[in-house]
Amino acid sequence: MNCSVHSDYHQMSEFAANEILSVLAANPKATLCLATGDTPLLTYQLLVEKIIRQKIKISQIHFVGLDEWVGVPHTNPGSCHYFLHKNIFTPLNVNLKNIHLFDALSANLADECKKMNELIDRLQGIDLMLVGIGRNGHIGFNEPGDAENNFAHISQLDPLTIEVGQKYFTETIHLQKGLTLGLAHFYAARKVMMMANGIKKKEIVKKTLEYPISTQVPATLIRKHQNAILIIDKDASGQE
Ligand code: GLP
Repeated sequence: MNCSVHSDYHQMSEFAANEILSVLAANPKATLCLATGDTPLLTYQLLVEKIIRQKIKISQIHFVGLDEWVGVPHTNPGSCHYFLHKNIFTPLNVNLKNIHLFDALSANLADECKKMNELIDRLQGIDLMLVGIGRNGHIGFNEPGDAENNFAHISQLDPLTIEVGQKYFTETIHLQKGLTLGLAHFYAARKVMMMANGIKKKEIVKKTLEYPISTQVPATLIRKHQNAILIIDKDASGQE
C-alpha cells in the first residue's frame, strides 16, 4: 500500500481524479466501483469536468455500485443511487446499460447480491474500486467484525453507521441494513483507492495505518492489498 498525503481536500481530490483518469486511459473498457459519501464528492466533480474537457470516451466503461441503504428508494437524495446519478452518470450521460446498482427495494435482497456477484464475474472483476472510510473503519457496508471472504451481502449496520448515516438525509430515516460488495471484492479489485479527509477522520486514519490488520477495523485490510493507495489530506493524516 502507498500513502499519498496532500495539503488540502482540493489537492487530494485533484490527485484522485487524475488517478481515475489514468485507469481509464490504460483500459477504456474498465469496470469501476465508486463509493458515495462526502469524501469523494469533489473528486467526482473534477473527474466529470476533466472527462468532458478532454473529450475522453467512456462509452465502454462499466460502473458497479459499492453499497446501498436497504429500504431507501432511489428517488431519495440520500440514496447511493441518487448520489451517483446526480454527480457522475447524469453529467457524463452514461448509458444505463453500463450502470449496475443494488436495488434496495427488492423483495429478494439475497437475489440482488447474487445478481451483483454474477455480474462482476461476467465483467471479469473490478479494475478500480474507490472507497471511503467510515468513522468505525467500515469499507462500503463491511462493518467491524464482518467476514473477510464475503462477496456481495446484506449487512447489519453498526450503530455508528446508522447515526452518522443520517447526515445524508434531510428527513429522519430508519436505517438498519445495507447491501454491499464484500471484502473479497475489495481484495480482488485490481486497484484500490481509499480516501479520507478532515480532522474527523484523523483517528480512524491512524487506526487504519497502525492497528493490527483485522476486520475489527476493516480499513486496515488495505495494508494487505497488492495495488492500493490511501489518499488523505493533512488534517486526516494528523500531521501538524
Ligand atoms: C458511508 C458509506 C461508505 C462511505 C463511508 C464514508 O456510510 N457506506 O461507502 O465511503 O460511509 O462516508 P463519508 O465520505 O461521507 O465520510
